[in-house]
Amino acid sequence: MTLEIIPTGQACGAEIRGVDLTSELDTDTVAAIRAAWLDHQVLSFPDQKMSDEDLERFTQYFGPFGDDPFIAPIPGHEHIIAVQRAADETAPIFAESWHTDWSFQSSPPSGTCLFGITIPPMGGDTLFANQYLAYERMPDDLKARLDGRRAIHSARNAYAPDGMYGDADKASGRSMTIIASNEAQASQTHDIIRVHPETGRKAVFGSAGYITGFEGMSAEDGWDLLTELYRWQTRPEFQYRHTWQPNMLLMWDNRCLLHMATGGYPGHARLLHRTTIGSA
Ligand code: SIN
Repeated sequence: MTLEIIPTGQACGAEIRGVDLTSELDTDTVAAIRAAWLDHQVLSFPDQKMSDEDLERFTQYFGPFGDDPFIAPIPGHEHIIAVQRAADETAPIFAESWHTDWSFQSSPPSGTCLFGITIPPMGGDTLFANQYLAYERMPDDLKARLDGRRAIHSARNAYAPDGMYGDADKASGRSMTIIASNEAQASQTHDIIRVHPETGRKAVFGSAGYITGFEGMSAEDGWDLLTELYRWQTRPEFQYRHTWQPNMLLMWDNRCLLHMATGGYPGHARLLHRTTIGSA
């Protein structure tokens, strides 16, 4: 099987053709997909009529399942969550802010797979920001203030009872089953600049999505540094805008990217199934 790899021409991302993800893959094909993933950070596979079982099998070629807290899995598939929105839903769009998935965990996931089922006719793109480029092109002054720093990550602003998806969100009519809990109060530190374990390249890890401050800095100084970094790391030249089709699988590398959902499809439903690739 020869993969066709078509780069997006944007800051990251490639479309992959020439592979059937509804069948088992041989080790050479998995290795070729992994190499393309490391080279391009986000891969899209159009025209794949995958079942939930296909999605689970594909995910496990790239690592163990990650642990998905705070969102209930779909019935019968403990490692799949539904990213969904009803046509008449008015709750804030889920995940419409830059973040890297579950970075508040002690071993955050390597990657995420997202499969498009119901795709609105317009809007609902997913944005990515390449954090290798954000580091490599960063002004020396900002780099010097970040190098060697440990960032404090927490899910509290999102998933604690008083967080964005907490008690107040319950009245919003959200169709996703989010389980806010006090477990979100925990925090975890990670180097803000990390060496990617597979490519050896340095990347910024995380953003104000889950980072709440920096070790050894006052809350005010930490927030100033975080917002300066946020403005830099999300610049348009580091971005790729992904437009969905039904039956399209997307896989991305959480170790060197930020991503966010977007809206723009009022009156239309959107449904995608998501798995998490844990760290090996
Ligand atoms: C996510 O962050 O997993 C959601 C992305 C999206 O809905 O486009």
